[in-house]
Amino acid sequence: MQKSWMLGAVAMLATAGTLAFVTQEPAEETPAPMAAAQAPNPQPIQFPHDVHAGTYQMECQYCHFSAERSVDAGIPPVSTCIGCHTMIPGEQQPQEVAKIREYFDAGEPIPWVRIHKVADHVHFPHMRHIAAGYQCQDCHGQIQEMGVLVDPDPAWGKGKMGWCITCHVEQEAPRDCTVCHY
Ligand code: HEC
Ligand code: HEC
Ligand code: HEC
Ligand code: HEC
Ligand code: HEC
Repeated sequence: MQKSWMLGAVAMLATAGTLAFVTQEPAEETPAPMAAAQAPNPQPIQFPHDVHAGTYQMECQYCHFSAERSVDAGIPPVSTCIGCHTMIPGEQQPQEVAKIREYFDAGEPIPWVRIHKVADHVHFPHMRHIAAGYQCQDCHGQIQEMGVLVDPDPAWGKGKMGWCITCHVEQEAPRDCTVCHY
């Protein structure tokens, strides 16, 4: 608890500190469109979920800000990272943290590689599932215990139709083809 409280204070201080800089030199706010995933670990920065969401107990939606109100969960812009990492250089992997500054200074979004993706003809609204009371972990596994994400957890059911339907049947959620297909 204390750790996460301290982190909140650090985040606020750091954000206030960077504001002046941001107004001088507008940074890119929009995350890059995510490319298709490829093995083994193609991520541009080795971002550890266990450190942020585990050790420091950051809320998932601090970064995935739109999960409860939109179709996409959302990927945080560089400015979210820089808010803390101006003051936190990283003890284990400072070279990974240094890359954040490079993207920020260049005004470029971090080109994260997308891992969870259903077929284009499928409609998956995050907000409906969050409103129904599901936790992120129900579908994505124990992300707060994972280091760098490479493959989806088995909890994700490979994004197959059978996985969606099984739960919709159990929960008596809609099953018309047009609910999920455009
Ligand atoms: C400090 C910001 C931050 C926090 C906190 C955070 N994430 Fe993330 N998350 C990211 C970033 C950046 C990515 C993109 C890089 C990657 O895939 O690791 C990501 C990726 C993901 C992905 C994969 C997206 C894809 O490519 O398909 C999932 C799922 C996810 N996060 C879930 C969670 C959950 C669940 C929590 C809470 C337990 C959480 N995240 C907390 C920043 C965060
Ligand atoms: C609320 C503050 C906060 C935010 C926001 C945040 N981080 Fe961190 N991050 C930390 C802390 C604290 C550590 C642990 C640093 C340590 O142990 O030296 C860390 C560690 C890391 C590390 C591992 C470095 C190391 O040496 O342990 C990387 C890489 C990283 N963060 C990338 C990111 C990226 C990319 C984002 C934006 C998507 C981000 N962080 C957002 C606080 C934050
Ligand atoms: C009912 C299952 C389910 C739940 C609950 C769920 N997700 Fe997802 N998530 C998915 C599916 C399915 C996709 C792929 C959607 C697509 O390709 O359109 C996905 C994709 C993502 C992505 C990829 C990019 C994006 O912006 O959508 C992130 C990040 C993510 N989820 C984070 C989260 C977080 C954080 C939570 C909790 C707040 C959460 N998810 C809850 C099933 C779920
Ligand atoms: C863990 C259980 C679970 C999984 C897995 C799941 N869903 Fe759902 N889904 C629900 C529930 C429950 C609702 C009903 C929410 C409500 O009543 O608002 C729902 C609602 C929906 C809706 C909105 C329906 C409407 O009335 O407009 C869509 C679309 C949807 N899901 C698509 C999907 C797709 C696509 C997948 C797989 C990629 C999926 N769901 C996986 C439980 C699940
Ligand atoms: C709850 C959500 C959901 C409902 C309802 C649903 N589908 Fe799907 N469907 C999916 C998902 C997710 C995929 C993508 C599977 C993949 O990418 O492997 C899919 C894929 C498909 C495909 C492509 C072939 C395949 O297996 O990938 C067809 C055809 C299809 N669905 C037909 C239907 C028909 C017909 C209905 C109504 C009887 C229906 N679907 C109802 C979620 C759903």
